[in-house]
Amino acid sequence: MTQIPDLEQLLVDPVVAALARAEETAWFSERPTPSAAGIEQSGIDPAIVADARVRFRRFAPWFAERFEDTRPTHGILESPLVGIPAMQAELSARFGTELPGKLWLKRDDSLPVSGSIKARGGIHEVLQVAERIATEAGLMAETDDARVLMTPRAREVLSAHGIAVGSTGNLGLSIGIVASELGFKTTVHMSMDARAWKKELLRSRGVTVVEHAGNFSDAVEAGRRTAEEDPSVWFVDDEASLSLFAGYSAAGARLAGQLASLEITVDERHPLIVHLPCGVGGGPGGVTFGLKEAFGDAVHCIFVEPTHAPCMSLGVRTGLHDAISVADIGLDGLTAADGLAVGRPSRLVGEHLQQLIDGYVTVTDERMKAFQGLLHDTEGIDLEPSAAAGFAGPWTMLSNEAYRTAFGLDDAAMAHATHIVWATGGSMVPAGEMAGYVAEGQALANEVSWR
Ligand SMILES: Cc1ncc(COP(=O)(O)O)c(C=O)c1O
Repeated sequence: MTQIPDLEQLLVDPVVAALARAEETAWFSERPTPSAAGIEQSGIDPAIVADARVRFRRFAPWFAERFEDTRPTHGILESPLVGIPAMQAELSARFGTELPGKLWLKRDDSLPVSGSIKARGGIHEVLQVAERIATEAGLMAETDDARVLMTPRAREVLSAHGIAVGSTGNLGLSIGIVASELGFKTTVHMSMDARAWKKELLRSRGVTVVEHAGNFSDAVEAGRRTAEEDPSVWFVDDEASLSLFAGYSAAGARLAGQLASLEITVDERHPLIVHLPCGVGGGPGGVTFGLKEAFGDAVHCIFVEPTHAPCMSLGVRTGLHDAISVADIGLDGLTAADGLAVGRPSRLVGEHLQQLIDGYVTVTDERMKAFQGLLHDTEGIDLEPSAAAGFAGPWTMLSNEAYRTAFGLDDAAMAHATHIVWATGGSMVPAGEMAGYVAEGQALANEVSWR
């Protein structure tokens, strides 16, 4: 591990100093790296994207059989893209700046099976493990779809294997629901941030939930140890897994299809600007990789984190990546955005993908909740706190002249921009809990300062 330079030295950078004060911050890439070069530089083989898409198709008949909410798409796990003009007008009025172009919401909050962006990656890794075990056991041929895994023999084979994961909640939910359905012995190590309902839901499906008093990194470490002690257990590593990453990346081509069906042009003069809530970074990192693959230099990807847990911003800015934690600059890592409560960033994403990430924005819990309240009032859409973080992106990037100039985003291009806020979770939140979020968000919308 890299030695952390002394704090004083790090704090000379005004961005790091602002992060340490838990202030809202924003910094952007200084010059473009062409996407093709950036993908090559990542060292990640783009073939993993196509491979993940094939796997999702192979399992679609199994999903349609086992999960009723996947039937309307015949087992394909995808979420709608919806325009949110009333929210765009409301935020333009509050920020005092008209957002040119059109604002959309990518509704991963309503992804089937587990209602969050983590469904994309977490489910993909479980499918990949199941496929490998079943193939090795001679239970699944290349031409078979995954319904062959529903036989008693296949369940018996899979149930001799375990899957372990450490999570702030939603990854555990995605993995636990699908792994238990396939017959795996599943253990989810939950950090202190995880909501009680997520743990209860998993237990009701026969998943072993281990609660930790510590943070996300502690939960991941516990999961890693479980697997080290028992070779029949597969550990899903949210800090570094390429399989998780591949699952998220499949969203790129899917979004390209959705935009094409809406006759939305994406090119240099019609930029696509995507705002992604970031926890450990795997979800937004994988989606970014898939988007850059699909749209090249026409897409801009901005990561948004809570002011108390800006691990990716800190890791990339200091060049220390997972060798530095938000605790090292005195932050407590505590945030209402449970999915984003991560102190140390993904090893995979910060180091390998930084040249493809366009900007890093942080947002206070209060503003995040205010976004939730406003989205409820303007569009009738309810999200969990983490999922609303992306709304901090569009107006922040709009006001960054240096970035816009360096990346050719002049007024004419911005007038044709497609802005997508990636709504990453919420549909499974119990109604009572959601009502509490909304009420708090509505009150905060009139308390936080907007200008
Ligand atoms: C609702 C929600 N949004 C965003 C994220 C961020 O994903 P990642 O931790 O992979 O960066 C998470 C992670 O759990 C989440 O639960």
